[in-house]
Amino acid sequence: MDSRFTTLALYALGAGAVTTSLVKLKTRLALSKAKHRSLSGHSRMARRVAALVPFYEYDERRFFRVDDPPEEIAARREAAFAGLSALYRERYAKSAAMTDEIRDCISDLQFTDAYRVPFQFSRYVRKRLKAGTFMQSSSGVTVTDLDGNRFYDLTGSYGVNVFGNDFYKECIERGAERVRDLGPVLGTYHPTITYNVGRLRQISGLDEVSFHMSGTEAVMQAVRLARYHTRRSHLVRFCGAYHGWWGDVQPGVGNPLPARETYTLNDMSEDALRVLSKRRDIACVLVNPLQALHPNANAPGDSSLVDSSRDGHFDREAYAEWLRRLRSVCTKRGIVLIFDEVFVGFRIAMGGAQEYFGVRADMVTYGKTLGGGLPVGVLCGRKDLMRRFREDRPVDICFARGTFNSHPYVMGAMHEFLQRLETPELRRLYDGLDELWNARTEQLNERLRSEGLPVQVANLSSIWTVLYTQPSRYNWMLQFYLRAEGLLLSWVGTGRLIFSLNYTQADFDAVVDRFVAAVRAMQQDGWWLADPAATNKSIRRSLLREMLAHRFSSSGA
Ligand SMILES: Cc1ncc(COP(=O)(O)O)c(C=O)c1O
Repeated sequence: MDSRFTTLALYALGAGAVTTSLVKLKTRLALSKAKHRSLSGHSRMARRVAALVPFYEYDERRFFRVDDPPEEIAARREAAFAGLSALYRERYAKSAAMTDEIRDCISDLQFTDAYRVPFQFSRYVRKRLKAGTFMQSSSGVTVTDLDGNRFYDLTGSYGVNVFGNDFYKECIERGAERVRDLGPVLGTYHPTITYNVGRLRQISGLDEVSFHMSGTEAVMQAVRLARYHTRRSHLVRFCGAYHGWWGDVQPGVGNPLPARETYTLNDMSEDALRVLSKRRDIACVLVNPLQALHPNANAPGDSSLVDSSRDGHFDREAYAEWLRRLRSVCTKRGIVLIFDEVFVGFRIAMGGAQEYFGVRADMVTYGKTLGGGLPVGVLCGRKDLMRRFREDRPVDICFARGTFNSHPYVMGAMHEFLQRLETPELRRLYDGLDELWNARTEQLNERLRSEGLPVQVANLSSIWTVLYTQPSRYNWMLQFYLRAEGLLLSWVGTGRLIFSLNYTQADFDAVVDRFVAAVRAMQQDGWWLADPAATNKSIRRSLLREMLAHRFSSSGA
């Protein structure tokens, strides 16, 4: 009897263990299914692959011939490159010389300098196309370098510049006047903060505000609070989305450690919604609405422009529907929905992505432009989520500080920024904003099409990305042609062109003329080879072969 009972108990235990394992396996499989199939969707794998890619570079001959062009084309490229190099040397001499002086002492610059083009071309380009990184002044929609060259500013100062550089100069100057008597006294507040808090509550539709020094920190704080209040461990981000450089939101290449409490899910996917509706360890979901322009793809930099497969297409209604569904799952499951509007806030609508897509979040992060030209990060959230301690557990707190939080000068400039937003002049800027920028996109695309040039652009309002319609290894060269035409891009190159909203139609027409001239010149110089056999796939395959050959020749040596 006893032994029968023991056997039965063992069977029951065994069956229980098998069921638990099966449930775990099912949950694990559901998670795998909810990842995007690209490497960016698999952070650990991406880091492993990145660690295997060997450095190698093309010699001078190969530099111009990686796609095996006819010799006449290769010679045309060589002559064009030499011409461009001479023009850069002469035109940007002072800026380039000063950059050379400090290059070895500023690590940030070393990084941005090296990562402008695919690494196989990088050293050769860096030596011969030196434009320098120094600027002297800005005015209207232009900036002027140390040599007196004026550029149309398409950098958007990483997204900060929504209303034009002069606007921010004024915010900083007037803001400084506002707080001058108090000066940089920290730890207490300047009265100007009350206006900012009131306006931010109105704009975000949320109860409380906390101030930080960067967008990265605002995101860190949002996630920390979500974990604290839900008592759950994991954050969900979507594949490709940038949320700053804090480790937990940057689980892939670039972070030496794996982010163990982060799930990176497939954007705009049923499988992701299924995971959210089943798992019990998810504290929050982070959404960067800029991803609507290229769901599941990383911020498009020219250093990864190895072929022409960069994609971009914005469908406002489809993304709004996705956000509505996300909202509904998060509400049902008690998951904190965080909109990270550090980039798009105040750019796509006065009330940011919440207003633009018609979906409310539980927490919203802002930054960049909101500081009126000074560094800032802001978190707005529901009262219950912003609380940093538990009434009934006095020692169980959720800590967050920062020496420069609520700096009077930042608060002064932010006050100016927010006050100006209320003026009819700025309010009018938001009327028909999408129509305006969609029409401008089409204007450029039409010009490019009518000349049969292999380039198009896609946009989310005033944020643009350049697309290449013909498979090529040399698309990254366009950034240098654009600069020669007086168009200034940020270090990521043609993946992100950011317009400030003070571009008049005349300014814009000038940009279109210069852009088309740059693309035309690049085509005439033979960088786009009309080879019907070349596809993006064949380019990637040949690159892979090349990398494998270098990997094995270097490790086998
Ligand atoms: C959506 C988003 N979140 C967070 C950040 C990080 O902000 P910061 O660079 O101020 O730390 C950025 C910066 O580009 C961003 O675009």
